[in-house]
Amino acid sequence: MFFSDTDILMKKMKPRTSLPSWMKLVKHVIQMKKIDIKTLFREDRQRFNKFSIRLPHMLFDFSKNNISDETMKNLISLAHECEVEKWREKLFSGMAINSTEERAVLHTALRNIGNSAIQVNNENVMTAIDATLTKIEHFSRLVRCGEWQGYSGKAITDIVNIGVGGSNLGPQMVTEALKNHSNKQMNVHYVSNVDSTQISNVLSPLNPATVLFIISSKTFTTTETIINAKIAMNWLKAELVDESAIKQHFVSVTANKQKAIDFGIAEENVFELWNWVGGRFSLWSAVGLPIALALGFDVFKELLEGAYELDQHFCSAALEDNAPIILALISVWNCTFLGRKSQAILPYDQPLHMLTAYLQQAEMESNGKSVTLNGNLVNYPTVPLIWGTLGINGQHAFYQYLHQSSNIVPADFIGSIKSASPLAKHQDTLIANLLAQSQALMMGVSEQEIQEDLKAKGYKEAYINSIAPHKIHRGNRPTNTLLLNSISPRAIGGLIALYEHKIFVQGVILQICSFDQWGVELGKGLATEIQKELAENQYNKDHDASTLGLIKYYQSENIV
Ligand code: F6P
Repeated sequence: MFFSDTDILMKKMKPRTSLPSWMKLVKHVIQMKKIDIKTLFREDRQRFNKFSIRLPHMLFDFSKNNISDETMKNLISLAHECEVEKWREKLFSGMAINSTEERAVLHTALRNIGNSAIQVNNENVMTAIDATLTKIEHFSRLVRCGEWQGYSGKAITDIVNIGVGGSNLGPQMVTEALKNHSNKQMNVHYVSNVDSTQISNVLSPLNPATVLFIISSKTFTTTETIINAKIAMNWLKAELVDESAIKQHFVSVTANKQKAIDFGIAEENVFELWNWVGGRFSLWSAVGLPIALALGFDVFKELLEGAYELDQHFCSAALEDNAPIILALISVWNCTFLGRKSQAILPYDQPLHMLTAYLQQAEMESNGKSVTLNGNLVNYPTVPLIWGTLGINGQHAFYQYLHQSSNIVPADFIGSIKSASPLAKHQDTLIANLLAQSQALMMGVSEQEIQEDLKAKGYKEAYINSIAPHKIHRGNRPTNTLLLNSISPRAIGGLIALYEHKIFVQGVILQICSFDQWGVELGKGLATEIQKELAENQYNKDHDASTLGLIKYYQSENIV
């Protein structure tokens, strides 16, 4: 068995619960449950300045949390005692910190604009990264200027990215976010679902002569992606007189080159990926090819630059001023110590409409675990369920729950100062709502305030007494606010990198391996077996009674 520095480091790791700062936080939380956030504001006029950080393209305000100076002091000590700085070094230097898969975790190398050498297995990975980046640049320019043509000599007008999870969410979220930055009309479509409705709807209006397919799969074994890729290939082949033209229409992004070639992709059309890039952290690699094709290579490069700037901040800022570290600590405080089991992500910008879905994979596939790095069951809550949607839509759907339910849900509010497509007054209205909601969640409104207000409006006492309890907002609900200067490629790059590092730090503090995803394997394996039973119209009697009943029902109702 491979015995790395990481193993040595892990063996030396003390259980988190035995750390002095952890024990202090356990006591401290009892005290903090008695003080509400608005009182903390009243007591400290400097609170906003103290608990907010200016980053290159955004402001991060974490002052509306149940934290005091002492909380932050203890949390920072926790980060020190968990050796977050050492782990950060391991991450950036390419050490195999994905210990269960014995892999380095080097998404940061993909945006290492400084180009300093990074060694993995005695090889400088920057050489391969640079070569792939040059290939992306060259290819995206050819396609965008119309020099890359389909089988009939026409320029490409539509890109169809076939991939799922990390091979879909990152590029789709970013192309949606930065749509307005494209100076050229290039349509991009994403197919991730194995439900034939999606691929049929995407393909039916398209002209095969002007479509370019990207088969994006790190492993090139993901069933959903391969099934969809085959459908796409057959759809194209039906139009071709000469199958050698496939190479004008199919490229692939994968770490499994041979599988892609065996599938029918020309070797020169394979964009390389490496096993040290986690799927959910891969949009900075050739997985981001649809971004470069749809928006131009310059936009893609600026996205990388924005992430690099945030990496620099993460590596150099003191822990007290380090945004990803603070964001992680606040999340640990809210979930592990205060017991808040879910966390809302609430973007107030239409371009960020896919951010929550993206972060659901990034956060929950990374840290949705309950054993420590050395295989022990944790005895504390790890990370919250991530959910949410565009803020304004949420306001008219589930904010009632955020304001008045018996569960407290910490929320991240994310907005931008300048709209991606300005119209008079729109942005003020949008941001006013963002600010008002986080204010309302913190301030609440007491019974006394409600009574005074209704009395002043002339309502009768009986009515006031009966309605007042329904109108109480207890407040004291924690939120973070991230205010971007604008939805620029750099700001988006920085925003994503901020969350990536937050996830990493949270994993370090909770002693979790953030970079594997064993929890998705069981279901995948069972699906393969059941799929065989459905195809052969048979069933395995050993299934549990519910699954067996459902299989039989499906088969009996599925007779044509
Ligand atoms: O099943 C989960 C997962 O492995 C994700 O981690 C990954 O992003 C996704 O599937 C797609 O995998 P691939 O890129 O290998 O097709």
